[in-house]
Amino acid sequence: MHSAYRDVQETKERDWVNEMTESFDVKLVEQAKYYTPDPSYREHAWTQNYTQAYEEFLADPEEFWAKIARHLEWFKPWNKVREWDYPYAKWFLGAQLNITHNCLDRHIETHRRNKVALIWRGEEGEERIYTYMKLYREVMRCANGLKRIGVQKGDRVCIYMPMVPEQIIAMLACARIGAVHSVVFGGFGVNALNMRINDADAKVVITADVAIRRGKTIQLKTTVEEAIINAPSVEKVVVLRREKDQPVELHPEIEIDFEEMMNGTPKECPPEVMDSEDPLFILYTSGSTGPPKGIVHTCGGYMVGTYYTSLHVFDIKDNDVYWCTADPGWITGHSYIVYGPLAVGATVVIAETTPDYPDPGSFWRIVQDLGVTVFYTAPTAIRMFMKVGETWPSKYDIRSLRVLGSVGEPLNPEAFEWYYKFIGDNRCPIVDTWWQTETGMQMITTMIGERMRPGFAGKPIPGIVADVVNKEGIPVAPGTGGFLVIKEPWPAMLRTVFKNDERYRKYWETIPGCYTAGDLAVKGHDGYIMVIGRADDIIIVSGHNIGTAEVESALVSHQAVAEAAVIGKPDPMKGNTIKAFLILRVGHTPSDRLKSDLIYHVRMTLGPIAMPQEIEFVEKLPKTRSGKIMRRVLKAKELGIDPGDISTLEE
Ligand code: PRX
Repeated sequence: MHSAYRDVQETKERDWVNEMTESFDVKLVEQAKYYTPDPSYREHAWTQNYTQAYEEFLADPEEFWAKIARHLEWFKPWNKVREWDYPYAKWFLGAQLNITHNCLDRHIETHRRNKVALIWRGEEGEERIYTYMKLYREVMRCANGLKRIGVQKGDRVCIYMPMVPEQIIAMLACARIGAVHSVVFGGFGVNALNMRINDADAKVVITADVAIRRGKTIQLKTTVEEAIINAPSVEKVVVLRREKDQPVELHPEIEIDFEEMMNGTPKECPPEVMDSEDPLFILYTSGSTGPPKGIVHTCGGYMVGTYYTSLHVFDIKDNDVYWCTADPGWITGHSYIVYGPLAVGATVVIAETTPDYPDPGSFWRIVQDLGVTVFYTAPTAIRMFMKVGETWPSKYDIRSLRVLGSVGEPLNPEAFEWYYKFIGDNRCPIVDTWWQTETGMQMITTMIGERMRPGFAGKPIPGIVADVVNKEGIPVAPGTGGFLVIKEPWPAMLRTVFKNDERYRKYWETIPGCYTAGDLAVKGHDGYIMVIGRADDIIIVSGHNIGTAEVESALVSHQAVAEAAVIGKPDPMKGNTIKAFLILRVGHTPSDRLKSDLIYHVRMTLGPIAMPQEIEFVEKLPKTRSGKIMRRVLKAKELGIDPGDISTLEE
């Protein structure tokens, strides 16, 4: 990991606003190094001149967004582009639409009718292909099936599925009929799923018998069976049965087969007419305290924001083959596998694969076989590829690649350079895109054709006003650390936190007048923004947000644990790993066996992504006099650094 990240990650939990400049690797900020893409990129880009586009936006923000929105089809036009009643925003007021009309019907009426919409690849190289026409038909069948089992506009549907086309079909089918989907990543365990089902009061859960990962089958349905035990809202579970030889048995009282649900339903399912501000989906993200937050996104603004960025940030053209390696269970999948790319009419690749199975060439084989041109992945994967070496990509012909993207955590300069050289052939622009579940769309990056600066995501894209400020909201001097904030509302922003509007307001009230992202950043003299990491108790492990609170509560739910404190430890591959400090209950003694038990317990309750890498049994935890655990003291001790101000520490 580059020293700039290491230094700053270590200090971020202290009074970093004051200390940042001292501990920061200033060289990286001051000695600017740029990569300039070939001018042909700029000539053909959807946004040809960043500065000019940004000025156009500033001159008339509403017209800027309206112009983009006019490319899409609305059942009824808006009568006002934006209403900003701080901290509440509404976009395209009075307009009516259905996002699936723009992702499907709009293309069926054009030359895209028979264009490939989705190409799915399985681990063994199996392939399934959907044209726009076929996807349209399948979405309508599924939508009619959902209606048949009683799903209505506004109902919440939980989708807990592996990465198969049906996962996307289910999402679009919900949107088609105005049901609100809440997709839960298939790697979450029983408690995590139960909590999300209950918080959303999901009426239906859509799942599959199994997911396939690294040659193994993972039972998803059994997790659902346990997760719905204390979930009174659930009326039906829809099961996609992938194992045809020995189909899993269904419990007819509550379970129904995915295919059966759709069989015999009418072919057509006209899109539900949605108000621009009607909810489209809920997606849970870790909170720095307490349970995960159900981030609510709405139809109109989200559609415009993801359409615009898919087109302008990835610069997608009609003949591109676009592959985002995320899972639709995360916001990256919602915005940049499903809604954005389909709204622009792209050919989208999805793959139920991991970057290292059956070997570290799996991604490059897909790029070669399918002729992928635009490729979007996470720094953790890039660092893994770096470690195994460039011989892997060099075995494949990946010259089809045209644009590379990165998301989820900082792309450190070493990883940027490796990606640029060995995947991008010293030719493909890299868009390091900073955004969040809450923002719904990409916010900061370096637009295609602009010069790129390793270590820096870039500038706010046209349409977005972002800055780096101190706690009072005053912009910090270039080269100084601060909080990353957004200063104006944007179309795809979250509208609330489901059942917790107070938590929503906190985003806008922490720093007066700004949306606080919770990230630390530094702005260079050139205006480029380097995102350093989280300023709160969220740990980003391999690009996945994990709240310390969630892991701690999973740990204390084990009978042996009295108290738990969890910290993130910088890791060269994963970004961070999780370490837990535990006080045991009387009668339990520390042992390696207990450690494995506890790790297994977290795996089963929260899921494999949240498992601690290390556990240490302690007698006491550092606390403030009011009883709050001071995780930064544990972290400082663990990393051998100065803990900063400890005046509030008890004793
Ligand atoms: O800390 C930032 C990091 O990921 C967080 C958002 O996580 P999530 O809501 O799961 O969405 C991830 C995919 C959009 C941010 O607060 N993050 C995301 N992208 C970047 C990043 N950190 C640095 N550079 C990025 N490009």
